[in-house]
Amino acid sequence: MTHHAHRFTGYTVVVTGAGAGIGRATAEQLLAEGSRVIAVDVSEERLATLAQEVDGDLVAVVADITDPSGIDAILATTGERIDGLANVAGIMDGFEPTAEISDATWDRVLAVNLTGMMRLTRAVLPRMLERGRGSIVNVGSEAGLRGSAAGTPYTTSKHAVNGFTVSTAFFYTPKGVRCNAVAPGPVATSIEAPFRSEWAQTRIGPLLQTNLPAVARPDQLSSAITWLLSEDASNVSGAIIPVDGGWAAI
Ligand SMILES: NC(=O)c1ccc[n+]([C@@H]2O[C@H](COP(=O)([O-])OP(=O)(O)OC[C@H]3O[C@@H](n4cnc5c(N)ncnc54)[C@H](O)[C@@H]3O)[C@@H](O)[C@H]2O)c1
Repeated sequence: MTHHAHRFTGYTVVVTGAGAGIGRATAEQLLAEGSRVIAVDVSEERLATLAQEVDGDLVAVVADITDPSGIDAILATTGERIDGLANVAGIMDGFEPTAEISDATWDRVLAVNLTGMMRLTRAVLPRMLERGRGSIVNVGSEAGLRGSAAGTPYTTSKHAVNGFTVSTAFFYTPKGVRCNAVAPGPVATSIEAPFRSEWAQTRIGPLLQTNLPAVARPDQLSSAITWLLSEDASNVSGAIIPVDGGWAAI
């Protein structure tokens, strides 16, 4: 991984899902490049491990982004200046096709992947608009680009992330706030994705076996996320960028 020494000096960047996987890699890279990082995760244990293992200006906030009090807790720690927001926290479904969706899975997947992202972005935006600058990066998925990468709840949530991203970019780019998304393919993280549907296994299983690109390292995602957060991407807004080893080209 390449570190660009001074890209984030003086910055404050909020990273959700910072306790594991892509969020953790993003927090680590930002810290290494001089940012103050507000590291958000629902897991206290994972944040404690992160705090032990990294150097730099880290503020750990144990919060659930689906809970309005969690959003308040995050905003209480940032200070007035927020340069970047990386909405990384997300959960998978159990590969359920529509006829097999439980209300609990639907509600939780949409709450974390979409509504939590909206609530935190809504809360952070006024501070960015006040200064007339900011960069928001949402983590979508290959499942936001096609119908064959997950179950229906997750696929729906990630397509919605794309809409949330372009609409936010449309409204706020003229005011200095950019908004983009990355769409990862498979990444080696701690996300759980059990097949809970026989039909999904039959229908998707063979496609994954033939089309799935190599599993990426989390830092192969964080390098794209930090690029979008940085001034290197100053003319990029409203983009949904596949970072998927070429899967979207299939
Ligand atoms: N791993 C992949 O193959 C893959 C592929 C495409 C997209 N993604 C997306 O990447 C993002 C990060 O996933 P990952 O693979 O790094 O997963 P991960 O499970 O390793 O990390 C996600 C972190 O988010 C935290 N989290 C979950 N719900 C939360 C909540 N309500 N509030 C705060 N924190 C919460 C978890 O505790 C966890 O530490 C997700 O949006 C996921 O959908 C992952």
